[in-house]
Amino acid sequence: MKNILNAPFVEEMMHTAANMYRLGWDERNGGNISWMLDAQQVGEYLDLNQVLRVLPLGFDAKAIAGKIFIVTGSGKYFKNVDRDPELNLGIVRISENGQDAELLWGFSDGGRPTSEFPAHLMSHMARLAVDPENRVVMHTHPTYTLAMNYVHELSDSKFTHSLWQMCTECIVVFPEGVGVLPWMLCGTNTIGEATAEKMKEFRVVIWGMHGVYGAGKTMDEAFGLIETVEKAAQIYMLTAHLPRVNTIRDEEMIELAEFFGVNYRKDFLLG
Ligand code: 13P
Ligand code: ZN
Repeated sequence: MKNILNAPFVEEMMHTAANMYRLGWDERNGGNISWMLDAQQVGEYLDLNQVLRVLPLGFDAKAIAGKIFIVTGSGKYFKNVDRDPELNLGIVRISENGQDAELLWGFSDGGRPTSEFPAHLMSHMARLAVDPENRVVMHTHPTYTLAMNYVHELSDSKFTHSLWQMCTECIVVFPEGVGVLPWMLCGTNTIGEATAEKMKEFRVVIWGMHGVYGAGKTMDEAFGLIETVEKAAQIYMLTAHLPRVNTIRDEEMIELAEFFGVNYRKDFLLG
């Protein structure tokens, strides 16, 4: 059996959490990441018949029964993941009846998956239904995206349009736009269901005055989406109080989308 601490998926989680911490997005225990792994690959590192603990999910995850996830722990600091991955991360398998998470590795202090596991797993289920290759769901508290939530109307179309205007690349990187939820109580199945509903349409979902979710086939895709949204929000916040002299016009966004061949949300342009 190979050493799990050298597994590429553990190393990638360590690297990504450290990177996000240094960007200032994940204060204290803020943020969480889940990544659906290939069972055969995990089997090179762990005995898949050895279940350490059974953790009830509190919702039905039958659609992903048997799937294995590496996930950050509840209350754990992104700052600390690379120092002690076995304490701060866990590898769990969704039980055959879809009701429990079976712990295969990690959470060595008796911990459990992120309190946002309902939103993560429901988002995985929603994304997999539209993109069978989706693997990663990431939640974080990026500073400028959050700041923008306080000064900008929280609607899918208006928020997306403002982001698209802030960086030339935006309409190409997230042509489907971003979904926006109002402030809601976090850590609940209710916010999980609302997030998953938006995830049917969007890979990025903003939780009003809380943070953002990103989904993708790879860690880079999910991270890159959030990074691009955050960059646009930063430019918005650096310019929101100044007279707007120039902007990227809708016709220019259409030109971009057509040149790069992306299927953009035409109804999110002002028309
Ligand atoms: P966890 O520590 O449970 O992952 O929660 C962090 C968070 O960002 C809540 O939304
Ligand atoms: Zn959060």
